[in-house]
Amino acid sequence: MKSLRKRGYATAFTSTVIALAFAVVWVCIQSAELWSSSLEVREGREAPITVRLPASYFRITMLRNEYHYLNTTSSSCPQLVPRGTKLVRGKECTGLAKAYESSRRPIRPMRLIGSFVFYLMVGLVLSAYMRRDGMGRARLVRSHLAIFSVLTLAALISKAILLFTPCPAELIPVAMVPMLAAYFLGRRLSFGVAMASALLASSLVNYDIQIFLVHLLAGFASVVAIGQRRRAGVHLKAGAVAALVAVLATLGTTLLFSGTLNIYDDISEHVDPRYSLWLAALFSGVGSGVLAWLLTPIVGSMVGEVSRGRLLDLQDLDHPLLKRLRERAPATWEHSRAMANLAEAAAQAIGANTQLVRVGAYFHDVGKSYHPEFFIENQGDGQNPHDQMTPLDSAHTIFHHVTEGTRLLRQHGVPEDVVEFALTHHGTGVLEYFWHKNLSEGNATELTERDFSYPGQKPTYRETGIVMLIDSIEAAARTVSPADKAQFELLVQRIVYTKLARGQLDESGLSLADTRSVANTVVDALVGMYHGRIKYPWQTDVTGEIATGRATPHAGLAVVAAAEDAAAEAVAPVVDAVAPAAADPVPDIAERTSEPIVAPPRNGDKDAG
Ligand SMILES: [Fe+2]
Ligand SMILES: [Fe+2]
Repeated sequence: MKSLRKRGYATAFTSTVIALAFAVVWVCIQSAELWSSSLEVREGREAPITVRLPASYFRITMLRNEYHYLNTTSSSCPQLVPRGTKLVRGKECTGLAKAYESSRRPIRPMRLIGSFVFYLMVGLVLSAYMRRDGMGRARLVRSHLAIFSVLTLAALISKAILLFTPCPAELIPVAMVPMLAAYFLGRRLSFGVAMASALLASSLVNYDIQIFLVHLLAGFASVVAIGQRRRAGVHLKAGAVAALVAVLATLGTTLLFSGTLNIYDDISEHVDPRYSLWLAALFSGVGSGVLAWLLTPIVGSMVGEVSRGRLLDLQDLDHPLLKRLRERAPATWEHSRAMANLAEAAAQAIGANTQLVRVGAYFHDVGKSYHPEFFIENQGDGQNPHDQMTPLDSAHTIFHHVTEGTRLLRQHGVPEDVVEFALTHHGTGVLEYFWHKNLSEGNATELTERDFSYPGQKPTYRETGIVMLIDSIEAAARTVSPADKAQFELLVQRIVYTKLARGQLDESGLSLADTRSVANTVVDALVGMYHGRIKYPWQTDVTGEIATGRATPHAGLAVVAAAEDAAAEAVAPVVDAVAPAAADPVPDIAERTSEPIVAPPRNGDKDAG
């Protein structure tokens, strides 16, 4: 079987290339003003850029016995010489600004190399962190490029603010980077992005520790505020939280480093609000939120997220692929539609993308439109082609709906986020039924479990994880009898436990709390779908009593029985599939699915506690 092209995941090599490019760009941005003689600060003319004298520079200057100079000018010498200030000899900070500038020009190669190594390390560590701890699309090369691009954009905006305005460095909007990372790539990863952003921000102002701490705390706060659920305006809320935290962090660090705090001076001395430290901290958070909100569509397309408009297009039931599935495999289409409703409810419960799971459920089995007759839900005439096939050939025909579905979707230009549903809905597990059938027939050709493993991959984001669970649950739920809450709970628990025990959800980003919410929501939805109804008199059974109990939706489709990922589904005779399972419904389901259901630990079991 031909192997499928996987998405472009970052490797150590791609990480190194990206980090090298990132380091070069950041060195250029950091030292931008030093490459142009027109931006040089000279005595006797207006400063072409804002000069920000580092706190450490004051201390060093004092050690050089220039304390007298500082002492006489300190009251009128802020750490900052705004752009446009006339640098008159003997006035204000002319001497300091000149001394500081002369220490930086001409550019010293060793300093550039030092900066390059610093940025390279930040880039390499951040990229490795994304590859190892990121979930789903965080490990894609395109996501790496998106995050490093946004960091670079933040650097450009920050540098412009630092060079051409007199505003304090607290204003730079670097918190937008962790906000966007949290929104698109998950919260866990974003704390590392916040750390990197703060480090990089401080590097633009002589590695100022106060700037690092303020932006680190604001970045962390914005990530926490973004949360797991996607709501309209979440960036603005995160920006407000970041602003509040930045103000408090500025307050704390000012007290910590200077030992004094005079808010009145900040307001009264600097009549021009551009000089206010507190306003800068406030607008840093708000600005980050607004920028993150504005950049959301661009970053979304960079990381490969499907837009809402595109998802709406894909929900059109007249889409050629859905039409084809509906015409060639109507029972599979019914299964997909039922799944879509369940998956949407589950996604809503955990704040996942409801539109994406609906579309994913519609398209996940589109590969069955090639040879629908190999799947029991489409074997209306009772003919089962697997009866004349070897177990390996049978397995390959089942696998084809994954591989062909993936190819078909790619051929039709369906976005990769949707293609992943076809690729991942069976994970990488073994097709147990045919593997055991092969063993029972003697395994003459010495095949291995690998030959009977699905050719897909494990779900890599929450939405595909949900669809994997719902795929098995929806098919198996059709056979539960009696269709009451207790039986559905048992069924759902066992399927969820089986997937967890086999590690199929390890990379999906679904937390245990998410999984519990999904399970509870699906049980409630199933009870709603299969709730009991009183039968009409003409529906009485042979004893003449009016039967109560459920009116089975899609009654003819009950033969689908059990999970469609099942080999059993593909081979079990229809009569067998509809056999009543009232006595012990769940074991019956276990037999019908390709994956024997593993019983969850009971209260008394050793591992349970
Ligand atoms: Fe499938
Ligand atoms: Fe399916």
